[in-house]
Amino acid sequence: MKLNDTQVQQFKSDGWLFMPDAFSMEEVEALRQEAEGIYAANRPEIWREKNGAPRTAFAAHTYNEGFGILGRHPRLVKPVEQLFGEQVYMHQYKINAKAKFDGDVWQWHQDYGTWLRDDGMPEPRAMNIAVFLDEVFTYNGPLMLIPKSQHHGNLPAGHDLGTTSYPLWTLDHATVEKLCAEGGIVVPVGKPGGVLMFHGNLVHGSAGNITPYSRKIVYLTLNAVSNYIRKPTHPEWIAHQDFTPIMPCADDALLQYSRKHRRQAAA
Ligand code: SIN
Ligand code: MN
Repeated sequence: MKLNDTQVQQFKSDGWLFMPDAFSMEEVEALRQEAEGIYAANRPEIWREKNGAPRTAFAAHTYNEGFGILGRHPRLVKPVEQLFGEQVYMHQYKINAKAKFDGDVWQWHQDYGTWLRDDGMPEPRAMNIAVFLDEVFTYNGPLMLIPKSQHHGNLPAGHDLGTTSYPLWTLDHATVEKLCAEGGIVVPVGKPGGVLMFHGNLVHGSAGNITPYSRKIVYLTLNAVSNYIRKPTHPEWIAHQDFTPIMPCADDALLQYSRKHRRQAAA
C-alpha cells in the first residue's frame, strides 16, 4: 500500500493519518480473540491497571503467530518506509486494552519524549501505527490527537510516575492549552481494522473508559534502521534491541491466519 500525495501532505501538515478500512473485520477477528488470551496470561510483559484489569501487553509479536504477522504486514510497514525513505525495525509493540469499565487515562504526552529520554533515540524518525481491534467510539477512551503539535519538536515534560500504572513523560496544562488553541483536538473513531498513524512528536492522550465497550488497539512503533536506539534503559521487551529491518509478509497473510484460526476453533 502506497500513500498518495494528499495523504503524504496531510501527514506532513497535521502529523496524523487515518485509514478507516485498512483491514477487514475478517482479517482482525482472530487477533481480537487471541488478545483476550494474552491479557489473561501471567507474564511480565502484561501491565495491569491499579485494579488488576489489563492495560497493555508488550511484545506479543515475539510469541504469538497472528500478532507476529501483523507486525510484518506490508499495509503497515510500507507507508512508514515511504515516509522515512528507508527500512524500519520494530522498536516497540503493544496491545493496549482500555478495558471496559476499568481502562485508565493516558495523560497528554509525546511518544518521542520517552524514546529520547529513556531509550536514547537520536531523532523522531519512529512512527506509531495503531490498528483498531475493537470499534473505537467517541466514548470508550479513544485516542485524542492535537493536530500540528508535532511542529513544536520535543517539548519539556515531567516524569509522571503516579497517575497511572505506567510511567510516562507528560506535558503540563499550560502547554496543552496553548497547543489546543492552535490545533484543536481530533478523535479518529471507527470499526475494527482501522489504522491510524501519527508522528512521534504529535501530542496525544486518552481518557478513562467507563463504558461496557472495551477499546483494544495494537500499536507498532516502527523506527528507521539508521535511527536505532543508543542508550536503552528499558527491558528488551519494551524497547527492542534487534535492529534487523522488517521483511514484510504477503498481503493476504493475516487473512489466511484468521481463516486457519477459525477452522481450528470449529474442529
Ligand atoms: C499511548 O499513547 O501510547 C497509548 C494511548 C492509548 O492507547 O490510549
Ligand atoms: Mn503515546
